[in-house]
Amino acid sequence: MIILGIESSCDETGLALYDSNQGMLGHVVNSQHKIHGKYGGIVPELASRDHVLKLVPLLDELLRLAKKNLNDINLVTFTNGPGLLGPLLTGASFAKSLAWTLKIPSMEIDHLEAHIFSPMISENNLKPPFISLLVSGGHTILSSITDNSSYDILGKTLDDSAGEVFDKVARHLGLPYPGGPEISKASAKKKSSSFKFPRPMLNTSCYDFSFSGLKTHVTQLINETKLTDDLISDIAFDFENAILDVLITKTLRAAENLDIDNIVISGGVSANIRLRDRFDKEKGNKNIFFPDIAFSTDNGAMIAFMGWLKSSTPNQKSLEIKPSPSSSLV
Ligand code: KG4
Ligand code: ZN
Repeated sequence: MIILGIESSCDETGLALYDSNQGMLGHVVNSQHKIHGKYGGIVPELASRDHVLKLVPLLDELLRLAKKNLNDINLVTFTNGPGLLGPLLTGASFAKSLAWTLKIPSMEIDHLEAHIFSPMISENNLKPPFISLLVSGGHTILSSITDNSSYDILGKTLDDSAGEVFDKVARHLGLPYPGGPEISKASAKKKSSSFKFPRPMLNTSCYDFSFSGLKTHVTQLINETKLTDDLISDIAFDFENAILDVLITKTLRAAENLDIDNIVISGGVSANIRLRDRFDKEKGNKNIFFPDIAFSTDNGAMIAFMGWLKSSTPNQKSLEIKPSPSSSLV
């Protein structure tokens, strides 16, 4: 079975082909960072228009790369939510029209589920139960996954997501959008701490997170300071450490308390190298799994792969398009 995955929930147009026998045949992704960079955040209408422009050429490129043609595809999967309404509509319309033309089924995929299971693309032996930390631009969710469709949400962010705070602090530091990778680059130049930033909710007994106080604290310091390159690195390093301390401590604590051995970390922030290194160093007797770096941020591969995991459930053949911009896991 060959599955086409289409991701268009935000500012990445991602397409991939997954073969149930051979694995991932290829994936292509176009990031709109240049388009949105000058606004410091995503402009939904510009995002939708760019998805419309890129979907067909990217599909052509993918088929060439994977040495397949349209008639080889057996199922079209696409992100149906959560995400921005316009961008979701572009991907859904494209996917449903393509499936209808090819006379094959299409399937709606939940973007958050696709992130959570993305490490399984390369980790054949990974199976639930596991603790999942999903850290992206839109979400910070700690959950316990008992099987491929049962989620027990342990905690969420009560305000900003971790990725959002990376992006906002980076903007105040004068770094380009998206800020996560830029903070990471700036902090890599630094080896020791200069500032003591707060670790919100680190010692509460619940598994919720809150990052807006940290963001305010750091941006106030930035506003009162004359920034130099060295100072940007100092602030990036200590800010990153503060976020990582909270994410890592709460995730390991959940795994310990629930006596679950495997921990899966996914979403855009899971591309962060120090997050990966620190989890590996601090994991104790737990096993830590990450997606390939290319599948941490939004991509079509995780959508196609989730389609494969769900392919035993009935496919949707109707042409109705009903995106769910604010769907949640449970
Ligand atoms: O999963 P994703 O591509 O989109 C959503 O589903 O939201 O995540 C995007 C987020 C952005 O906030 C971006 O700054 C962050 O992931 N990100 C990073 C890194 N790479 C991307 N954050 C920290 N370190 C990184 N290396
Ligand atoms: Zn995402």
